[in-house]
Amino acid sequence: MNPDLKLLHPYPFEQLALLKQAVHPTNGKAHISLSIGEPKHTPPHFIEESLLTHLYGLGKYPSTKGTPELRKTIANWLASRFQIPASNINHDTQVLPVNGTREALFSFAQCVVNSDTKPIVIMPNPFYQIYEGAAILAGAEPYYLNTLEENNYLPDFDSVPESIWQRCQLIYICSPGNPSGAILCQKEHEKLINLADKYNFVIASDECYTEIYDDESNPPQGLLQSAQIMGNTTFKNCIVFHSLSKRSNVPGLRSGFVAGDSVIIQAFLQYRTYHGSAMPLPTQFASIQAWQDENHVKENRQLYREKFSTVIDILQEVCTISRPPASFYIWLKTPIADTDFAQNLFAQENITVLPGSFLSRSSNSINPGANHVRMALVASQGECIEAATRIKRFINTLNL
Ligand SMILES: Cc1ncc(COP(=O)(O)O)c(C=O)c1O
Repeated sequence: MNPDLKLLHPYPFEQLALLKQAVHPTNGKAHISLSIGEPKHTPPHFIEESLLTHLYGLGKYPSTKGTPELRKTIANWLASRFQIPASNINHDTQVLPVNGTREALFSFAQCVVNSDTKPIVIMPNPFYQIYEGAAILAGAEPYYLNTLEENNYLPDFDSVPESIWQRCQLIYICSPGNPSGAILCQKEHEKLINLADKYNFVIASDECYTEIYDDESNPPQGLLQSAQIMGNTTFKNCIVFHSLSKRSNVPGLRSGFVAGDSVIIQAFLQYRTYHGSAMPLPTQFASIQAWQDENHVKENRQLYREKFSTVIDILQEVCTISRPPASFYIWLKTPIADTDFAQNLFAQENITVLPGSFLSRSSNSINPGANHVRMALVASQGECIEAATRIKRFINTLNL
């Protein structure tokens, strides 16, 4: 067995199941889950129709590189979404389909990390746990970069010691962030791209929440957009990860893409050819349709906005709560330990939220997830209102 498997941490939902096992909800109310970031809005019908129409594609082995039509569609989407000149994205060398960002974020580290040189992989803290597992199994040491309230939940790149940058081979960033929804802008991207140039590491920008944002006129900036603006028009050291899971409410489709630096993309393509992670042809056809349509994505954003408004209206009477600029999470500060909050909320109100400390590690003597819970507003508007009402009642019982 690979000895590094023993270094993997239990997944947050395993920890959550143990926490919940110890108590039993008593109020007889229906359970509401706000813990899992699985979209629940109805996916557009045209995706299902396209899958059915192209089922004949199951009779063929798909190529790892994907069809030119899919890669062209993705390149066009990237250009229009991030205001990059279309001539600057080569669909042949700079775009690759992946089976959802999860597998791509994981396999990417296996491809780009050289385990012979005491590598470090930097990641935000709290984080999507795949980053950590990917780093460990690639033979690297994870470095947890705290994202704290005092920095608007953004990573502070200036706080990273030079000795860490020198050993860094890969950094994961997540913007909009899970769990806080915080967005990295030009300034932070530019700083990081300059650091990547100086210390020769790769930036993996997880942008899977970039289509779920509050201000319709101000979509989150992407890493390639920032690179383009600062004159890094070949996207050197920059790779972005995008997904249809949240954008189109199809987490089961397993469809996303990576794009950026052609040198890295070519190495990743070679890795993936052996890894055997080609996207089935019906999925490729359905994905083309999904990346070409913006109406369903606009409607999706509107549904989240309405839920944020009503839930925040209810909860702000009993706690300080801020509206995130993007993502579908509320990253709520808890007046008691986050694990106690989650456990007692489950016991009293039959609502599941995720303790923040299950998403983070202690770093520099701080656990940045402590005293926070993550609430995913994925349920229906009615369920979200019911959940917020019950959470309000629960907070009132805390006698603070
Ligand atoms: C931050 C982040 N990245 C990536 C993913 C994976 O999404 P998918 O594999 O469905 O594209 C998730 C899923 O919840 C996530 O929260």
